[in-house]
Formats: sequence, structure tokens, C-alpha cells
Amino acid sequence: MTLAHEPVLYQQIITALHPRSGGLYVDGTLGAGGHARGILEACAPAGSLIGLDVDPQALAIARETLAPYGNRFRLIQASYTKLGQILHEITSPPPDGILLDLGASSMQFDTPERGFSFRDDGPLDMRFDPSIARTASDIVNTFPEKDLVDILYRFGEERNARRIARAIIRNRPVYRTRQLASVIESVSSRHEAQHPAARTFQALRIAVNDELEAITRVLPQAVDAIQAGGRLAVISFHSLEDRIVKEFIRRESRDCLCPPRQPACTCGHQATVADLSRRPITPAPEEIQRNPRARSAKLRIAEKLVQPGTMI
Ligand SMILES: C[S@@+](CC[C@H](N)C(=O)[O-])C[C@H]1O[C@@H](n2cnc3c(N)ncnc32)[C@H](O)[C@@H]1O
Repeated sequence: MTLAHEPVLYQQIITALHPRSGGLYVDGTLGAGGHARGILEACAPAGSLIGLDVDPQALAIARETLAPYGNRFRLIQASYTKLGQILHEITSPPPDGILLDLGASSMQFDTPERGFSFRDDGPLDMRFDPSIARTASDIVNTFPEKDLVDILYRFGEERNARRIARAIIRNRPVYRTRQLASVIESVSSRHEAQHPAARTFQALRIAVNDELEAITRVLPQAVDAIQAGGRLAVISFHSLEDRIVKEFIRRESRDCLCPPRQPACTCGHQATVADLSRRPITPAPEEIQRNPRARSAKLRIAEKLVQPGTMI
């Protein structure tokens, strides 16, 4: 299998991590290994990479993509939420850079049997990690209406959450992606730019994979793990992800978190990173033209301070 798609913000990631020979880099969301390959190229001849993914299919593709780099990489089937523990267990030196390219990969979207796409018919699955118990079908067919509304509203920012949840319950059982998309289409207006099922599918995917909790858990571990002066680069694809990343970097780049009117600091918080992207980096129009899935990507970069509270 070959890389079907150019990795999102590829050049910007290489510039952000500025890999060097001898450096160690972690790709926490390996996917097909496109970014990882670029990092391994850039840190030749002596740099190395640790790649994580929960999806065994992604790891198999990445293993082929990265085969030319011999023993300079190590791939592990694990969640990035265990980043700190994994680096500790394999007694890795602190990495010089960590990449997180959040969400689903093109391979996952383009494989109907994985159930991520409302355009192609497949089972309502949506698990990144096929060994976890709960699928999108379990949520759609067993959750009470109020929980469905909550998921659609919180993880999809779906204004029609109530109407869609009621329609799902009326049409149960719903086992297929196209069946769910038709149920949503039947109660939605067709005048929006986005497909009416897009927000529901996003919400279900986030709920199945507990994505927002995972991002919240990995960010402090990544900053902890990284070498002083090393960089964390995070690509997000929707506002819920980006808000978590933005607020984390903003908080961690401040020396005091006390309310602005408080005369003296009582929190003692010290900055651990410098915020290198107050405005997120977004793809150029040419990249969006080549790869429309890149259109909502936002890259944020943080650099670990040499000493907490000491800007480099
Ligand atoms: C957008 S893709 C990454 C694409 C990759 N950068 C490339 O160049 O091909 C995101 C990947 O993260 C994986 N993923 C999602 N949640 C994860 C988690 N908690 N831990 C590890 N990998 C995860 C998905 O399975 C998917 O393969």
C-alpha cells in the first residue's frame, strides 16, 4: 500500500520540529506515516522516531512506508494518552519533538468498513482502536434520547440535536452509515454548506473514541516528556480540539494564572512553554485545493522552556 494523501501541513510540521541528526522525535498519531517519513528524512543520518497509533491497520501501512529507514524507528500500538508511561518503560531519552495530528486519517475515512464516512455505506463502527468494546452502533441503538442529544450537542455543536436524536430513536435499529445519514437528512434542511450528517458523525466519532478527554490527557504528558528547548506541534481539525490545545498552550505559557485584578500572585504557576503560534498556522489555498480535507486544519506549536518561568 502507498500513501494516498499528502500529510496535512507537511512542510510546516518539518519547519516547526526542525529535526536534527541525532535527535529523537515522537509521532503520537502515526497514521500512514507520512509526517513520520518527513521527520526521519530531516533527522538523517542519526535521528530516530517513535511512532504510536491505536489502529493496527495504520501501523501496518506505516511500517511499509518507513521500511527504508531501517532501525531508525520504533512503532508501538498504543494510545498517546499513555505517552509518559511508554517513554518511561522503553527508557527513552527525552524527545526533541512531539507531533500530534489529531482525528481520523484519510485511510480510515476512505475505508467504508470502518464506518467513519456518511458518504459510503458501512457498519456504524468508528473505532480507531478495533479492540475497544463500544461502537457507534452501540451508542446509536442503546443510548437514551437525552444522552444522544447531549453527545450531538457537545461533540458536534449540532443545533438540531433534539430533532436528530428523536428521529434516530424512531428509526432504531440503525446499523449502517448510509441508513443513519438518511435518517438525519430526513429531518434536516438542505440549505447548509456542510452535509447535514457531518456534525452527527463527528460527534459520534468523538464519543466512541473519547477524543477530547484523550487530548486533554496527552498535552501535559507531552510537555513533561519533551527535552528543554524541544517542541510540541499539534494539528487539530475542529474548534473543540483546537480550543483544548489553544487554552492549554496559553495557560502553560503564562507565569501566573491569578485573576487579572488580584494585586499579588498567590498561584505560584510558572510558565513551562513558549507559545510559538498565538495565531494558528493554517494551510495555504494551494494545499486546500490539492487536499480539501486540510481546509479546517490548525497547527499550534509550543517550545519547552529551559527552566520553568524562564523564556528562552
Ligand atoms: C490524522 S491521522 C494521522 C496521519 C499521519 N500524520 C500521517 O502523516 O499519515 C490520526 C491518527 O491518529 C490515530 N489516533 C487517534 N487517537 C489516537 C490515540 N488516542 N492514540 C494514538 N493514536 C490515535 C488514528 O488512528 C489515526 O491513524
